[in-house]
Amino acid sequence: MQTVTLNNGVKMPIIGFGVYQVPDAEECENAVYEALMAGYRLIDTASGYLNEEAVGRAIKRSGVPREELFITTKLWVQDANYESAKLSFAKSLKKLQLDYLDLYLIHQPFGDYYGAWRAMEELYREGKIKAIGVSNFLPDRLMDLIMHNEIVPAVNQIETHPFYQQTEGAAFMKEQGVQHQSWAPFAEGLNNMFSNEVLVSIAEKHNKSVAQVVLRWLVQRQIVVIPKSTKKERILENFDIFDFELSTTDIEQISALDTRESLFLSYHDPEVAKRMGNWKFDL
Ligand SMILES: NC(=O)c1ccc[n+]([C@@H]2O[C@H](COP(=O)([O-])OP(=O)(O)OC[C@H]3O[C@@H](n4cnc5c(N)ncnc54)[C@H](OP(=O)(O)O)[C@@H]3O)[C@@H](O)[C@H]2O)c1
Repeated sequence: MQTVTLNNGVKMPIIGFGVYQVPDAEECENAVYEALMAGYRLIDTASGYLNEEAVGRAIKRSGVPREELFITTKLWVQDANYESAKLSFAKSLKKLQLDYLDLYLIHQPFGDYYGAWRAMEELYREGKIKAIGVSNFLPDRLMDLIMHNEIVPAVNQIETHPFYQQTEGAAFMKEQGVQHQSWAPFAEGLNNMFSNEVLVSIAEKHNKSVAQVVLRWLVQRQIVVIPKSTKKERILENFDIFDFELSTTDIEQISALDTRESLFLSYHDPEVAKRMGNWKFDL
């Protein structure tokens, strides 16, 4: 398994399996089980995905030894403060049937995430989490968090795909020692990614699929990927990206697809802060 080494020495698989928008308990459990059987060792969930229990059941059913796994979950906005972060962490751990987490992320840069970060720093020091990080922090927010806390986030999980490549963000994170992780590597299929002419032609040249080319392109940039699929054949396909290499020309062609804008939401839009703040779950 190819890994990256985080700023605290912890090794993280460069490819994992994401379970956003898989709320159905049985479907989620089966997808995670298939992913573990296919060889994935990193599973990416979140309290807000409402499927931590299904992930926990799949882990147990798989029989994969705990030390081989890298399990990530995230703290939702409504719990982004010191006290709630500790409670929410304990609930997540229980739902996942685990006694420690590999990676705990602040899901969104909203709420009292400074308080939450201090709770996470304590949990990390107590050995209950192997690494702590954030998600959806653009460079300005990330710098502010780094400036005013003791522990530098190990990971920042942000939207990254061929139409939104995050080139400057990636350079900034590298400079700060924060591992870049991509969410929505396929942009959830938006903008017709799977039939994009440039990507199709590169895929045909390598006798691979567009999905494999996109994941390979991210991995060659040393970005951790967590593609999601509920279909066994795609789960296998997305993991099979280590037997080919994209050339400089391929990479230049993919670089030209960058629109430098999110296909989903803007973290500079006050309406997004409002919507996320109002988005409450029964956790
Ligand atoms: N931190 C955050 O705020 C945040 C936000 C979004 C996502 N994430 C994480 O990132 C993970 C991945 O992102 P995502 O789930 O939003 O989207 P994604 O992985 O970009 O796209 C998933 C979509 O692509 C399809 N797909 C998967 N493999 C395929 C293949 N080989 N060929 C054709 N279609 C394929 C899936 O359909 P089928 O399932 O039908 O195969 C699904 O519709 C999430 O699951 C989650 O863990 C985090």
